[in-house]
Amino acid sequence: MNLKYEKYWKKGKDFLNVEVPIISGAMTWISDSKLVKAVSDAGGFGVLAAGNMPVELLEKEIKVLKDEKANFAVNLIVIAPNYLTHLKKAVEMGVEYIVFAGSFPRKEEVKIAKEGGAKVMTFASTESIAERMIEYGADALILEGSEAGGHIGHVSTIVLLQQVLFNFSERIPIFIAGGIATGKMIAHLLLMGAAGVQMGTIFAMSEESPAHPKFKERYKRANAREAVATPRYDSALPVVSVRALYNKGIKEFGKLQLELLEKLKKGEITRRDAVYKVESFWVGALRKAVQEGDINYGSLMAGQSVGLINEIKPVKKIIEDLVKEAEETFDKICR
Ligand SMILES: Cc1cc2nc3c(=O)[nH]c(=O)nc-3n(C[C@H](O)[C@H](O)[C@H](O)COP(=O)(O)O)c2cc1C
Repeated sequence: MNLKYEKYWKKGKDFLNVEVPIISGAMTWISDSKLVKAVSDAGGFGVLAAGNMPVELLEKEIKVLKDEKANFAVNLIVIAPNYLTHLKKAVEMGVEYIVFAGSFPRKEEVKIAKEGGAKVMTFASTESIAERMIEYGADALILEGSEAGGHIGHVSTIVLLQQVLFNFSERIPIFIAGGIATGKMIAHLLLMGAAGVQMGTIFAMSEESPAHPKFKERYKRANAREAVATPRYDSALPVVSVRALYNKGIKEFGKLQLELLEKLKKGEITRRDAVYKVESFWVGALRKAVQEGDINYGSLMAGQSVGLINEIKPVKKIIEDLVKEAEETFDKICR
């Protein structure tokens, strides 16, 4: 890809070893080897979602991508029941990039990944977590603001930029996620010192995304304000907020939370089991929406960026359009 403003893209390109540092973030049930390969073929960087996959399936998916010589990472959810088996498998298969998600990895786990030759990427939601992840050996950071889709943190992208990007971008490549849907935004983020961006919703809506046509059509019509974050009713049940399009599925989640809180109060369930039930609810609800097209009761996890995306396009076109618009923006600003 011929980039006139190569100097702004270079840090992320070199780190990811790609033509353009646009990452398609992992999305459980959506980021399979087909979508990841399409992103890699288009010059970007794909992330395979290990989620709760059986390890045999993860192995198969990694093999497909390795055989195709795709540029990709594997996203491991550190709170998933088979997380350590996933980590072992990814390392054993020589995966070159590992993204730790869901929470923060332990130092030994980062060490396992690095000793296997992988570059490690972690999220960083505060300055102190960024410091800790760098100390553990992270090679790059992802800053994901609360505008993002799926499980989210508490802080918006714009605050994370000031808190983490501006203070750490000289030390480590930083990729920005959450709320990004235009090339204009990408150009501005690169000018601020970002190494690149990670986007989810835009790729969930791509032609190559395995999501059900009803799911994509619903996203096409959605406004930004429909992508709401679920509340935590009581600290006794420490649920992580999920951002998704408001529907009956979200109401069901409200009911589940109240039922679980009642059971916790009566001592009928442990906190660990209650949290597990919440996470299983989301995995199941997302599958219902993505695979069955149940847009009423399934979970329509989406970032607020959903309001900026009104077309279903092939991945190649998405990336080409983003890069073109980013370069045009550099043209205007850097003349
Ligand atoms: C449907 C959906 C599922 C997601 N699943 C995961 C996941 O399994 N692991 C993860 O690290 N992030 C997950 N994310 C977050 C994305 O990787 C990405 O960081 C986020 O979507 C960026 O915000 P955007 O949607 O505004 O582009 C998910 C997001 C969506 C929309």
